[in-house]
Amino acid sequence: MTRSFTSILFALGLSAHAAEVRLYSERHYDADKKVFAAFTEKTGIDVKVVKAGANELIARLKSEVNAPQADLYITTDAASLTKATKAGLLTPLKSEIINKQVPASLRGKDDTWAAFTMRGRVIVYAKDRVKGNLPKSYQDLASPAYKGNILIRSSSNKYNRSLLASLIAIDGKAKATKWATGVKKNLARPPQGSDRDQVRALAKGLGDFAVVNTYYLGLLEQSSNEEDQKARAAVKVIFPTSGDQGTHVNVSGGGIIKGAANQENARKFLEFLVSEEVQKLYQKLTSEYAVVPGIELEPLQKSWGKISPDRDTIHVMGEHDQEAVKIFNFVGWK
Ligand SMILES: [Fe+2]
Repeated sequence: MTRSFTSILFALGLSAHAAEVRLYSERHYDADKKVFAAFTEKTGIDVKVVKAGANELIARLKSEVNAPQADLYITTDAASLTKATKAGLLTPLKSEIINKQVPASLRGKDDTWAAFTMRGRVIVYAKDRVKGNLPKSYQDLASPAYKGNILIRSSSNKYNRSLLASLIAIDGKAKATKWATGVKKNLARPPQGSDRDQVRALAKGLGDFAVVNTYYLGLLEQSSNEEDQKARAAVKVIFPTSGDQGTHVNVSGGGIIKGAANQENARKFLEFLVSEEVQKLYQKLTSEYAVVPGIELEPLQKSWGKISPDRDTIHVMGEHDQEAVKIFNFVGWK
């Protein structure tokens, strides 16, 4: 009779760990639970999650560097993945599957992370009120033509920080400062609330233009609240460009923790996230964009129009993140 290693351990009274992958994740979407359950069903590997902000998770990873308590670090921001890489917390993915599925522009330069979803930061406008004179670029938002008419959240939020960081990368610090000054002058009200709140305020007539991440339009659409559905229906989407660059995008991505106990499971998990099955599922459940080329968009995503993502600045946002914070403070964008 042959006995498995596990059953021998049991017979000896030693417990073998059940197969698991431990995530430190910044994501907070219900859809993830469905994806985790599908992974466990397919592989038998349990998914354990600790959720917190990116910086808090990095601090934890640093404090646990000699005995990592997580196998995979997941954030909603490329700058945080770059930061974790620079801190030496991540180890190369070394996955042929990921290399095949995910374009190099959506993977870390040192192979320390890969994106699994992408979101655009776009402009929406009140389709019934705005006739013509639409902004085409992020730079246009600073034009006096939009005075008192722009809704955008606080600068402390990283979606705005990464947008400004990308503008610093593209236009330089001086122009980016001028831009932030101009947009601040054009605000319809002091920055407040979430991305969804900007769309809600727009629907109420507080301003005609709002800056929002694409997937929030999907979340408003799927909301059980009728007001939210109406707010979503009141807007049309502009995919702004930035000079020669396309629309500002950021990613959700993951990297394997150096020295983690379940690195192989972490790799399998990331590979699962970039499988066509899960890529389609994310587009459906969260309205985020697939990172794998050739996945057909969901009808709502198609209704927004075509996105040309700026994949270049994803890799340098981390370098300009602190500069962006300084500029926001300097111009008094709360
Ligand atoms: Fe978000």
